[in-house]
Amino acid sequence: MRRSIFLIIPALLAGCEGRHNWLASAGAEAQRVEDLFWVLLVGAAVIWGIVIGAAVYAHRRQVDPSLETQARRFILWGGAVFPTVVVGALLVWGLVILRDITSDEGDLTVRVDGERWWWRVIYETPEGDVVTANEIRLPVDRTALFRLTADDVIHSFWVPALGGKMDMIPGRETTLALTPIETGNWGGLCAEYCGGAHALMRFDAIVMEQSAFDSWLEAEAQPAEIAAGDPGFEIFQEEGCGACHTIRGTEAQGPVGPDLTHLASRDKLGAGIYDMTPENMARWITDTHAMKPDIDMPPYPDLQGERLDRLVAFLMSLD
Ligand code: CUA
Repeated sequence: MRRSIFLIIPALLAGCEGRHNWLASAGAEAQRVEDLFWVLLVGAAVIWGIVIGAAVYAHRRQVDPSLETQARRFILWGGAVFPTVVVGALLVWGLVILRDITSDEGDLTVRVDGERWWWRVIYETPEGDVVTANEIRLPVDRTALFRLTADDVIHSFWVPALGGKMDMIPGRETTLALTPIETGNWGGLCAEYCGGAHALMRFDAIVMEQSAFDSWLEAEAQPAEIAAGDPGFEIFQEEGCGACHTIRGTEAQGPVGPDLTHLASRDKLGAGIYDMTPENMARWITDTHAMKPDIDMPPYPDLQGERLDRLVAFLMSLD
């Protein structure tokens, strides 16, 4: 039994590897939380050692009434003064970190709305809002200020490698600052149980060089380029997809589901869970709830053959 417990440990630690690893900080805020964690861990280990040592010592020694005053003093200093000072200092340290990571200053502002179960992402630019979904791109070494809210239930926004997590609360706005210090593709997720597909509510946080980010955002701000009379777009409209989804530059202006203007430029489908491939897209349309249970989008099982191929080809052309 004991051996099997030790066998579990490497498996659990393996879960810390990779792009969700908050102990491999790729962000300034994550680094500060990580520093606090290590001080707490080492400090707790040292204090635990001292307490256990004192307990063993007390157990082994004969009671000596002449040492009673000394013992009282030890309890007063070690049991009351020391914990008060240590916990007080940690509280101040924690509050300073909290103040900084929830500050309302940033080099760019990104609003994120938690929906069931995906992320509406809006970049604020001088030329106006740029709406996208389920993928967040950030420039390296710049502080992004996130303004977070939720549609109907509480979610929690978390990119472990970049920084702390923050609740997304309906009817309220919370803020979170993230300053990535390393380029890469970091995993983000919802860290608060929010219903059926909670575990499938993910996103990619892609950190890029400033110039690459600028061109990406500029492209993202453009309307979709659709060939006149594209049969896939006609099917999209006939099936009523435009009632829920927006494709900027067309009459499809549905506000309910994710914005699809540059859908195919995203790496993932279904809020960070499937690769963006034509096969997955076809299955997503026809067998939606097998891929992601409980979501609002209805499946279209009758859409098959050439009609499905055309619709998929159209969607995959939205880059
Ligand atoms: Cu959203 Cu859990």
